[in-house]
Amino acid sequence: MPPTSPTPAFVLARPKDAPLAPPPQFADLREKSPITRVTLREGLSPWLVTRWEDARAVLGSPAFSSDPNHPGAPNDREGRMRSPRGFFANHDDPVHATMRRTLTREFMVKRIAALRPAVARLTDELLTAMSELSGPVDLVEHFALPLPSLVICELLGVPYEDHAFFQEQSKPLVDQKATAEETWQAFANLSEYLLELVRTKRTTPGDDVLTRLAEQVDEGVITDQDAADLGAFLLFAGHETTANMITLSTITLLQHPDQIPHLLAGPDQVAVAVDELLRYLTIVHFGLRRTAVEDVTIGGVTIRAGEGVIISINVANRDPEFFNAPDDLDLERAGARQHLAFGYGIHQCLGQPLARAELQIVLPELFRRLPDLRIAVPMEEISFKQDTAVYGVLELPVTW
Ligand code: HEM
Repeated sequence: MPPTSPTPAFVLARPKDAPLAPPPQFADLREKSPITRVTLREGLSPWLVTRWEDARAVLGSPAFSSDPNHPGAPNDREGRMRSPRGFFANHDDPVHATMRRTLTREFMVKRIAALRPAVARLTDELLTAMSELSGPVDLVEHFALPLPSLVICELLGVPYEDHAFFQEQSKPLVDQKATAEETWQAFANLSEYLLELVRTKRTTPGDDVLTRLAEQVDEGVITDQDAADLGAFLLFAGHETTANMITLSTITLLQHPDQIPHLLAGPDQVAVAVDELLRYLTIVHFGLRRTAVEDVTIGGVTIRAGEGVIISINVANRDPEFFNAPDDLDLERAGARQHLAFGYGIHQCLGQPLARAELQIVLPELFRRLPDLRIAVPMEEISFKQDTAVYGVLELPVTW
């Protein structure tokens, strides 16, 4: 009998000298065994999918569940995860579809276009306040984290006088050092505050998401609690992701200063540049997690019902079979938008038009306002968040 090779561990740690690329061992797997078993933890060895084509096939297939409590789900922690219906990324249809439908209109092109002036104003306010500070300043604390949270306040219709409270409440939700219990508690606190706000919107309606969710409560589509949980979920889904994209894009652009002009060249160029940054960085590096609900064959491998799958979208977005010279950053790359950084299929990121708009406004403005922007410490001193769902840095001291 041929010797059986040990199942490789699912690792996230990246080498110090290449912190922006996926772990190099995955590139090897993508070439030699693109769908293979990996060890996630004791007794749990889900499949790992690393090719662009296979990743799309799994994410687009109805044969997989997104429920983290499904038996066999590739969960890092044992035990049940708490997922209210409003946290619909963790639900399958029909709950998923019902909850997602309550928000789809909010992310249509016209609505997002209407939010752009507010994003530009908030960007301007934060950059003005930051540029008045002297000495190295943490870009994460002063710019990258507050911006998406203020945008979500605007989107939801959080009254201005509650902004500080709302941001304070949401901190543990995006604090990567928080335990699962602390994160859950933060979600519950925020949801409690939002529940009150949904009720207030009935007497003082606004042109905002919570008012429109309150209307859907009155129409019997969802409950008050769903509306509050949906609001908290939007904050959770759109805060840390956008923040980390801002910080990691800044580092990447400072490492490729010759490409910064593409970002400043106009709306069409900035759109391509942002999609290339999304592909290159693919910050959701934990992999998207699914469980087969029936036997299904993907890329010639049969995955049985009840078996877990991790779809490594960051490795798939560097697949040389699909992207030319994928390890190079090319802010003019044709087809950059074909990346899987927002997922694919029914769970594809609902907030992607907003995320794109934020990045398209924020990144050029940052480099226009601070042309001498630079990192204030040697790269080796920057702490990357290696084992969290979304890749990023803890802080980024900058100067200009
Ligand atoms: C650059 C920033 C962002 C990235 C990279 C990102 C990435 C993703 C990915 C990969 C998924 C798919 C999860 C899966 O298939 O299991 C997702 C789902 C989702 N995202 Fe985003 N996201 C970003 C920003 C946002 C923003 C700004 C919002 C809203 C304010 C948002 C709201 C959502 C929602 C609601 C879902 C769940 C969709 C569903 O299950 O149907 N995201 N995101």
